Amino acid sequence: MKVSIVGAGNVGATAAQRMYALELAREVVLVDVVPGLAYGKALDMQQAAPLIESDCRITGATSFDATAGSDIVVITAGLARKAGMSRDDLLARNAQTVRDVARQIVARSPNAILITVSNPVDEMTWVTLRASGLDRRRVIGMSGVLDSTRLRSFIAQELHAGVEDVDALVVGSHGDAMVPLVRYASVAGIPVAHLLPPERIAAIVERTRNAGSEIIDLLKTSSAYYAPAAAITAMVESIIRDKRRILPCATLLQGEYGLRDVVLGVPAKLGRDGIEEIVEIELLEEERMALKRSAQVVRDNIARLPE
Ligand code: 2OP
Repeated sequence: MKVSIVGAGNVGATAAQRMYALELAREVVLVDVVPGLAYGKALDMQQAAPLIESDCRITGATSFDATAGSDIVVITAGLARKAGMSRDDLLARNAQTVRDVARQIVARSPNAILITVSNPVDEMTWVTLRASGLDRRRVIGMSGVLDSTRLRSFIAQELHAGVEDVDALVVGSHGDAMVPLVRYASVAGIPVAHLLPPERIAAIVERTRNAGSEIIDLLKTSSAYYAPAAAITAMVESIIRDKRRILPCATLLQGEYGLRDVVLGVPAKLGRDGIEEIVEIELLEEERMALKRSAQVVRDNIARLPE
């Protein structure tokens, strides 16, 4: 398997390093338009090979030609959020970049599965879909896995519980309108509502909603990248190893959850062919309304996208 990552910034490079260390693919390619950046980082990673015992091949390049024949391509290109910047400020700037990248990628890897990470991610996944012409099963946005791992880590911290016992699902768009489905959150199969009072759950949900901004405010010049890279890697692993994990993914909805022609985060089974199934779970009226509001935010932004 060959995985390419476009954008050798913090998110792209950290994801590359993770996949390389885990030997997830035979070959990992890191591409960036900035001369030397991807090549330098790949070289640095490759020199760690004897220590981390990875026989995977890692290369860096400035040209998209290096991505030819990829099975999976992760798109992290574009501007990242900085302090005081909303994900939507990035809309027009990154749409142009992502459109161009998607076209360059499919021209060289027509059978690839694309994972879009650039923000605002739901809208950029829409742009990737349109520009690539690929089937919706093969164009997937990364956000729900990140938002869910944040929620899971906060629940584990609050309860002093082992992280692997904590399960939680965040759906909807990546941003203020995200929909953390705490009703479905559990610790070793026990619903979180049985373990925590409502006000603590509400505080954890609020922290999850603002988790990206909390990190930007601390780092000042960068947004988060360790958790995003781990989230990307989990998705890539489920595809490469055909694990068919159910992970929240931004995908084009065509009637699922009563929504159509909009990209939104919903639980999906990820396997060798990409999204094998969109999993529809029962929602309460208020959860359904929250999802609808989330969809409207993305719809409004899609309408504002430059031609
Ligand atoms: C995050 O949630 C910035 O969207 C990015 O960390």
